[in-house]
Amino acid sequence: MQRTSAELLHFIFYSIGEVSKSHGDEKLYKLSEMGRDIVFSDRCTIWIFDEAKNVLWTKVSHGVGHIIIKPDNGIVGAAVQNKEALIVNDVYADARFNQDIDRRTGYMTKTMMVIPMIDNKGKVTGAIQVINKKENQDFTTADLNHLNLASTYVSESIHSMLLLKEVDDTQKELVHILSMVGENRSNETGKHVKRVALYTKLLAELYGMDIKEANLICEAAPMHDIGKIAIPDSILQKPGALNDEEWEIMKNHAEIGYEMFKESKGKLLKAAAVIANEHHEKYNGTGYPRGLVGEEIHIYGRIVALVDVFDALNSKRVYKDAWDIEEIFSYIEIQKGKHFDPELAELLLANKDKFMAIHYANRD
Ligand code: C2E
Ligand code: SIN
Ligand code: SIN
Ligand code: FE
Ligand code: FE
Repeated sequence: MQRTSAELLHFIFYSIGEVSKSHGDEKLYKLSEMGRDIVFSDRCTIWIFDEAKNVLWTKVSHGVGHIIIKPDNGIVGAAVQNKEALIVNDVYADARFNQDIDRRTGYMTKTMMVIPMIDNKGKVTGAIQVINKKENQDFTTADLNHLNLASTYVSESIHSMLLLKEVDDTQKELVHILSMVGENRSNETGKHVKRVALYTKLLAELYGMDIKEANLICEAAPMHDIGKIAIPDSILQKPGALNDEEWEIMKNHAEIGYEMFKESKGKLLKAAAVIANEHHEKYNGTGYPRGLVGEEIHIYGRIVALVDVFDALNSKRVYKDAWDIEEIFSYIEIQKGKHFDPELAELLLANKDKFMAIHYANRD
């Protein structure tokens, strides 16, 4: 049982809609339904780590009430202690498994997958546990990837719930998962998301944007490649150069991202729509999808075009090695006024040290 990327995307959008409409316990319940259904399992439990009391607790679990366990107890505890995702496809053969809950509920656990939830400071905030893959199948690493995508979102939602400042803005909720979806698929890392955001903010400020607008574009920029979710893995993960047909498909990612966001009403997703659509346009008009020229390209598109290439050249991809930093700067010099807006290229070249500081602080 696997969904296609398009089905997965549809499902995630649907679930996020449901989650953002609900509050309190209902929200926790919706989140666990999302975890359960994303990987076709029978049950999903969201465990929350209470650091002060040193316990893991859950409200929606196994059809029984509130459960509290010690954070080193069972397979869930092992995943939390080691900050490591675990797949166990025969729990009774695993010494770490705690049979108490099965005994109490009469439920028979066979297969289990646990993903620790980790916040952006590297602290464990809890775990997502799914039990019994449907049709007696085993959990696979593909399931793990899919649940991982959701885990960022689940942990964000819970974080804001626990702080009692429930995110009033649905758009903000979408940002994390959407950035991660695009990047996970192309094996780019969370660090890439962060670097692109920071480079974007720096360049926007150097360009003279006010802080509010620089923050807006910085939050929207990491979603530029979201359309890659619709590109098959055989193309995305191809180790070598793409042939003509594959390249035509790959180029669609810009418009697909635009299609996803174009109906949005809020500022953030509107900016994300422009950025997705225009981040591969080139200043001299030779880019895609529309071949826009110069200032026809929105300033957000021109900024992200430059930082995306700067970061791509600075990184290893399945299809290429990272470039030498001096090569990257001379490439930007050569492409000034061709690929890149000359004014932006000048700003980057005049502030090499600031860009490199971000690069070194956020290496993969
Ligand atoms: P990406 O890997 O994130 O690269 C973003 C942009 O950085 C590229 O946009 C390109 O402008 C620049 N770039 C990256 N690597 C190189 C390079 O080795 N040389 C030069 N001159 N520029 C580079 P582009 O070309 O529109 O590609 C968009 C996306 O298409 C890439 O995103 C990547 O996911 C994919 N792609 C491009 N070429 C290949 C390839 O040869 N093989 C595979 N598997 N994917 C490719
Ligand atoms: C565990 O072993 O992780 C706890 C048992 C359970 O939640 O079913
Ligand atoms: C996806 O298909 O979008 C999730 C990532 C993966 O399965 O590798
Ligand atoms: Fe792109
Ligand atoms: Fe990218």
